[in-house]
Amino acid sequence: MAHAFTRRQFARAGAVAGLASLLPRGNFAATGAHKKAVILADQEIGVVRPEFHGHFAEHLGSCVYGGIWVGPQSPIPNINGCRKDLVAYLKELGVPVLRWPGGCYADDYHWRDGIGPVAKRPKHVNTSWGGYVEDNSFGTHEFITFCRLIGAEPYFAANVGTGSPKEMRDWMEYCNYPSGSTLSDERTANGSPEPFNVRYWGVGNELWGCGGNFRPEAAAAEFRHYATFARRFGEVAPFLVGCGPSNDDSAWTRGFMDAIGNRLPNGYSMHYYERGSMAPTEFTPQAAYTQFNLFPRVEAAVIHQRALLDGYDPTRRIGLILDEWGVWDQIPRSGPERGLWQQSTMRSAVAAALGLNIFNRQADKLYMGNIAQMVNVLQSVILTDGPAGKTSVRTTTYWAFMLFKPHRGKTALRVESDAPPLPLEIAGRGGRSDVTPPEPKPDLSISASRQGSELVATFVNPRHDVDMTVDCALRGVSAKKAQAQILHDSDMNASNSFDNPDRLMPRPHEVAAEGNRIRITLPAMSVATVTAQVA
Ligand code: AHR
Repeated sequence: MAHAFTRRQFARAGAVAGLASLLPRGNFAATGAHKKAVILADQEIGVVRPEFHGHFAEHLGSCVYGGIWVGPQSPIPNINGCRKDLVAYLKELGVPVLRWPGGCYADDYHWRDGIGPVAKRPKHVNTSWGGYVEDNSFGTHEFITFCRLIGAEPYFAANVGTGSPKEMRDWMEYCNYPSGSTLSDERTANGSPEPFNVRYWGVGNELWGCGGNFRPEAAAAEFRHYATFARRFGEVAPFLVGCGPSNDDSAWTRGFMDAIGNRLPNGYSMHYYERGSMAPTEFTPQAAYTQFNLFPRVEAAVIHQRALLDGYDPTRRIGLILDEWGVWDQIPRSGPERGLWQQSTMRSAVAAALGLNIFNRQADKLYMGNIAQMVNVLQSVILTDGPAGKTSVRTTTYWAFMLFKPHRGKTALRVESDAPPLPLEIAGRGGRSDVTPPEPKPDLSISASRQGSELVATFVNPRHDVDMTVDCALRGVSAKKAQAQILHDSDMNASNSFDNPDRLMPRPHEVAAEGNRIRITLPAMSVATVTAQVA
């Protein structure tokens, strides 16, 4: 590893900067570790696209109905039917892009069911999730209203499984053609004379599974067929996303790309969930480590899938999209209202940060990432299913995303540390020492980015039992001053609840920046973002 300093040199610099005051103190875990890292400001990776911090909202459980959407007549404060405090929280977070209406649900969704007078909209059994009846009161116009309220770019997942190229093509015309055609005039009659200018269109979802159980060659043929009729209907040309693999399935990508011919998709989606073996608030350290150790696999999958695509698309015209990702813990499937309802804990925040660090490190290979899902479901940033009268809660995952907001639009930089790489053949498998090799302990994770005089670095300590003091050298720049924010709780199962909504949120944290060094202490289970002024 490339160290730009020795421990003795750093100690000397630390004494100058009064680093003694940064030594671990208070209620930290019993042991400490010294870590070394270097941020190579002269080695740029690529732009941290805001779209790395995208979201996904499906008609599943209470993500949309009861979560985002309460309806204009609801006693719950709302803006045009969208929950008011949730809108404010998401606006503050900044949602670059929002994918909708599924998920598996997308391949059984017919957009015409969700337009026109609400009372006349057909009622539909959600066969993908819960088997309950939806009244379609949240449709295209309501979704666009919500996107505009929170400042998100809409991303529609079109129906391949039970739909047709015509259905997608008509949806495009309805949304994007300015006026004068029957479909665009229908949009105007339904209250929206201005076109929606929807750019992102997914061609089916998980076509290898719930989207229709296609073979990759057949999925590619569907894509070619749909793409033929997916025209530019207005200001924006459609950006078509082809269905990629589950996890790092090379056979799917090879099969799809071999059959795609000359009609390359603009984007190619992969899904990678980080499964958990315990209930969300009952994780043991071992179970948490098994989940954390899936992230090196995600990183390897991004690198590998990009390399596979490069074989067909050496100039990288196709954007690789991690369309669904996040922790998926053991959650009871106890009824439609709370389908896949999952609490976010300190552990979930660490997991989110491990993922977002990957996106920075692989900024040259990724186009977009959408966490699953936005509200109440899986690794959500907002919970709303509280007792009557309680407001929405920002989860630990919300705050992990907030800690990455300063990276957006900056250029990611290469970072090295003395954390050893995990052996992928055993990491994330939940090994037990009496049967298989034990689960390796995860180590410090870092990413950094810079724009002009501002350098941002995010440090993650995924250990539950070790505080880490990180001596981080800066190569190519020197720091004048720095400030840090930290999200931390020594209880990995701690969460924000309706009774204690602000238990976990980023707080100011000490950091020393002097010349070409930054030093920060990370308590066990923490995520910290340092913003430094550099020259
Ligand atoms: O996010 C929940 C489900 O996970 C989605 O509907 C599907 O695409 C994936 O399998």
